[in-house]
Amino acid sequence: MAKNGEVSASVIKRLPRYYRFLGELMKQGTERISSRELASLMKLTASQIRQDLNCFGGFGQQGYGYNVKDLHEQIGKILGVDKKLSTILIGAGNLGRAIASHINFETRGCQLIAIFDSNEKIAGKAVAGTTVRHIDELEFFCRTNKPEVAVLCIPKANTQAVAELLVSLGIKAFWNFSHYDLSIDYEDIVVENVHLGDSLLTLTYGVNHLLDSKENNDENDKK
Ligand code: NAI
Repeated sequence: MAKNGEVSASVIKRLPRYYRFLGELMKQGTERISSRELASLMKLTASQIRQDLNCFGGFGQQGYGYNVKDLHEQIGKILGVDKKLSTILIGAGNLGRAIASHINFETRGCQLIAIFDSNEKIAGKAVAGTTVRHIDELEFFCRTNKPEVAVLCIPKANTQAVAELLVSLGIKAFWNFSHYDLSIDYEDIVVENVHLGDSLLTLTYGVNHLLDSKENNDENDKK
């Protein structure tokens, strides 16, 4: 199997989508699927799918296609869903509460073990079945429990300082929602900055360009 370093970032970005579609197929009772069928379902090309999966050693058999359950399992292993990375969430405000309540960390290779907030009125309250701890407990908690992943749902202005503290406490990866493109000068830290607004802009671009090309076509039809 290829090491992640040898696989392009765009292939890695597509893997969660393969994993999700294959999971749906499993739920529907589909046992095997050809690259052509999977491609039409996912609006990709069959050769794209074969190329992507070849990065990890194939998995398909000529004339048979892919065994859905095996492929789902293999991609899950590549993504690391069978791991339980201990995860903490910082900032139990509107977004932090929504993420803690609606993201299933366990099916994505993580286990949410604690939530922290600097607001004394929020500390002590329950969020997603976990009692929010005051941020003052962070250092002791990290030294004792050694979490590896931190989800950041705090205001932009506080992000860099909190992230640096967390790195010094052993955090290896950030799922960062704080509208701050976290750039930490540590090579071995994984950062995933999430901006929901960027996704909305991709949508507006799509709508506007679709409308532009439709208007152009309508104009051409009139000529
Ligand atoms: P909020 O104000 O409801 O919650 C922020 C929480 O962080 C508060 O409970 C506050 O007490 C806590 N906090 C602040 N500094 C802290 C620190 N140093 N340590 C621990 N806790 C701290 O804000 P909301 O709506 O939950 O948004 C949180 C952040 O997420 C904001 O920066 C917002 O701009 C961003 N955001 C990002 C989105 C994205 O797509 N990436 C989408 C929506 C919000």
